[in-house]
Amino acid sequence: MESMGTLKRSHNCNMLRADNLGEEVVLMGWVLRRRDHGGVIFIDLRDRFGITQVVFNPELNAEVHAKAHDLRSEWVLGIRGTVASRPEGMRNDKLKTGAIEILVDELRILNVSKTPPFPLDEDTDVSDNLRLTYRYLDLRRPGMSENLIMRHKASQAIRNYLNGENFLEIETPILTRSTPEGARDYLVPSRVNPGKFYALPQSPQLFKQLLMVAGMDRYYQIVRCFRDEDLRADRQPEFTQLDMELSFVSEEDIYSIAEGVMKAVFKETKGIDLELPFARMSYDEAMDRFGCDRPDVRFGLELVSLTEIVKECSFKVFRTVVEKGGLVKSINAKGCATFSRKDLDDLTSYVGNFGAKGLAWVKVKADGEWQSPIAKFFTEEERANMSSTLGAEEGDLLFFVADSPGIVHQSLAELRLELARRLDLVSKDTFNFLWITDFPLFEYDQDQKRHTAVHHPFTSPFDSELDLLETDPGKVKSRAYDMVLNGTEIGGGSIRIHRKDIQEKVFTALGIGAEEAADKFNFLLKALELGAPPHGGIAFGLDRLMMILAGKDSIRDVIAFPKTQKATCPLTEAPAPVERKQLTELYLRPDWE
Ligand code: AMO
Ligand code: AMP
Repeated sequence: MESMGTLKRSHNCNMLRADNLGEEVVLMGWVLRRRDHGGVIFIDLRDRFGITQVVFNPELNAEVHAKAHDLRSEWVLGIRGTVASRPEGMRNDKLKTGAIEILVDELRILNVSKTPPFPLDEDTDVSDNLRLTYRYLDLRRPGMSENLIMRHKASQAIRNYLNGENFLEIETPILTRSTPEGARDYLVPSRVNPGKFYALPQSPQLFKQLLMVAGMDRYYQIVRCFRDEDLRADRQPEFTQLDMELSFVSEEDIYSIAEGVMKAVFKETKGIDLELPFARMSYDEAMDRFGCDRPDVRFGLELVSLTEIVKECSFKVFRTVVEKGGLVKSINAKGCATFSRKDLDDLTSYVGNFGAKGLAWVKVKADGEWQSPIAKFFTEEERANMSSTLGAEEGDLLFFVADSPGIVHQSLAELRLELARRLDLVSKDTFNFLWITDFPLFEYDQDQKRHTAVHHPFTSPFDSELDLLETDPGKVKSRAYDMVLNGTEIGGGSIRIHRKDIQEKVFTALGIGAEEAADKFNFLLKALELGAPPHGGIAFGLDRLMMILAGKDSIRDVIAFPKTQKATCPLTEAPAPVERKQLTELYLRPDWE
């Protein structure tokens, strides 16, 4: 192995073109591939910018050629040579540097490498665990490094846009008190304050509100948030938000800034000109038509209510569900009457995962006749009524779920997505934005037997509904909004409560008594009494946005060093045990031993 010596890199591996012919250049990078052709050795030299072919010809420089014999994949090289034209027929139009090659005069082997545990090409399927254990190799793969480069561009586009709109980038603490966003906290014991703990922020929510009280109107931050919750493809224990807060604003001001951010990001990363403004849909409409509050509206397969039609039918399952206040809803899968018995069984067990006790189906035959195990339970009039409500035609397949509204909506929403996957109805190149508005302020938690905040406890109700806070809290709508992209919630926010009396009423409705409120949120309540301006904001999940932009199915692919499903890091083996002495210093006594 050698040092770089006097070699100083003159170009990266994606810079040289036919214009540079005859120039002496110095490149550094990794050996992607080595090929021997009749004594001439070709190396594809790779760095994060691209690939350049370098050539060792025994007739031009026998000594350097002999040295090149040893080179292996992923060795690190520095080379000095002359840019030459590739011979006719040897050009590679797919590479930006495909018209040239470097004839090498000097080779320095800066480091050797063991054979990598997996090939660093795009096509080899490598297990997630292996990829994460050797993440630094995984990130050398062009697709992965492109994701990180795109993420960098998105962050810069965000900063440029918001700086131009008079925003201030301000940092908020990581060691702090709990900010409730619905997940468990990560706790950090304090050595100098025995028995006391910091919580890592689930979001900078309260600090950004306090910044508004401080007069720091128009704040943003690209900030790490921590949530100890069950992980999924679009959830990580630590993730990044683009967090914003503005003073003296209404919903329209937030929509306009947030849409501006998206426009800037799409232009910078994909060269796409988004059309503004984005469509909007109320929460109630989204639930009714799509069964969820983050509908993918790139395809139809909408939910249709049949509750009224079947309320007196002779199919006991449907009738009793309606009698108990449940719903019967249906999806018309156009042209799917060809589905096999196995398809239907698979889909039935699929919706079972979401609580549905069954999945009734009807295949529509010629003349609108029904082929179905449940056809016999309905009068001709009921069948005709359902068919016309569903726009059923010959060849269609109708699905029905009867249950409580929660189960009907969730299972049909999931069935809708599964059908779209099976029928290949969505393209990753379409970007469909949607605002969801008018969320309920509270939802009732059956386990805890109390209301919980749908967004968070600092979200403002509509002024016109303040009276309902005490009388019928479940009916109160909130001034919260989500931004949905292709069926993923990429952002959410709200107009906040800026009056202490209303904040106290909301705490009460949430079952947070005066004592608990004073204990946990005294600092907020005090600030609300000291000139808090009307304010509101939003936070985007930057990882989720990047996942969609990169056309990936997991946010892990757009995070440099993500965690596994079990919240571990196979590379560093975090979390790891600590020494007894450290625990003692923190006044912690293990009960896992
Ligand atoms: P919320 O909890 O909706 O709002 O979070 C905002 C956005 O962050 C993303 N997100 C996540 N991304 C990856 N992994 C996770 N575990 C995860 N959890 C959330 C989502 C989500 O839309 N303080 C409020 C915002 C506000 O009111 O201004 C908040 O944090 O894309
Ligand atoms: P059963 O009479 O229970 O055999 O049900 C007849 C059909 O109705 C089967 O296809 C079941 O999958 C379906 N089914 C049963 N319960 C429900 C339900 N709650 N919602 C929708 N379909 C159901």
